[in-house]
Amino acid sequence: MGSRLIGYGSYLPERVVTNFDLEKMVDTSDEWIVQRTGMRERHFARDDETVVDMAVHAARRALDNAKITINDIDMVIVATTSAELDFPSVGVQVLGRLNATNNAPAFDVRGACTGYIYALHCARAFFSAGMHKRIMVIGAEKMSRFIDWNDRSTAVLFGDGAGALIFEHSTSSYSGIIDTVVMSDGREMDMLYGTPDHRIMMNGPETYKKAVTLMPDAASYIMEHAGITADNVDWIVPHQANIRIIQSGAQRLGFPLEKILVTVDKHANTSGASGVLALAYAFDNNIIKHGQLVLYPAFGSGLTWGAALIRV
Ligand code: UT7
Repeated sequence: MGSRLIGYGSYLPERVVTNFDLEKMVDTSDEWIVQRTGMRERHFARDDETVVDMAVHAARRALDNAKITINDIDMVIVATTSAELDFPSVGVQVLGRLNATNNAPAFDVRGACTGYIYALHCARAFFSAGMHKRIMVIGAEKMSRFIDWNDRSTAVLFGDGAGALIFEHSTSSYSGIIDTVVMSDGREMDMLYGTPDHRIMMNGPETYKKAVTLMPDAASYIMEHAGITADNVDWIVPHQANIRIIQSGAQRLGFPLEKILVTVDKHANTSGASGVLALAYAFDNNIIKHGQLVLYPAFGSGLTWGAALIRV
């Protein structure tokens, strides 16, 4: 049993914060941010706008896109690390807000920036086992909650948003979520973590060094496992943390830059929402077309890393 992608949706908060806006908030410059990260703007949620609000918008759009209703979904998996409430899960709250009456299960995964790959890994397992028919995978984050405005090295990097993908079971193992790999190394947690008082702590240069090897490693593993090469892949959609990490990874894998989807300039780093938002952006703008093969690597706090291979 496999799966196929039947719908997608995304939501970005209305407020756009440019690098020039950030210049007024921290000791930084548009030039530094563009050169070091490739970021130009990001979206920040309103104070009263929650992770659940953003996830609900994305989920509604995905349901409309798939032309189904919430009761057609029999599992929701949400990748998030920034939910306002410790419990219940964002997934259950999304089902409640959409008035689901079919008692479908929902849960959140906390894989930080690799969260959406962890969520896809779970979805693939449930489809392989033949246990669920339609699974909605959501990535939703309000990273602006965690920004420490006294730390310019992290304050400029993050943004908010949500994306949703709906997969349906299929007898083909060559469509939908074809393969996934997820890994972690908890010994490296000091490199990047959230403090109890909700501040991001990151050793940027050390995290960078890990990201430029572990993301391509996960991508290579998936290609080898699937018996394909870079030539067979139509698009690589990496976690959008930094343009230099994206370009260095592409080079290591032998991918031409034209095959790399970049949204870090528009969304900045939206952590567990990053790849889902990027894919939705690519569909909305007719960049990635249905039927194409997408390689989806990610990396983040934990350390966690992994990749998915999806025929969209
Ligand atoms: O999504 C989860 C995974 N996260 C990542 O993958 C992020 C990985 N790390 C990075 O992307 C990069 O390390 C950063 C973008 C965070 C930083 O870039 P960098 O080239 O590693 O800079 P750095 O930390 O080595 O700092 C270089 C200089 C320092 O000044 P001095 O000591 O050379 O005078 C910093 O103080 O840049 C300074 N700096 C800034 N200057 C202007 C740091 N942040 C800023 C800033 N504006 N916002």
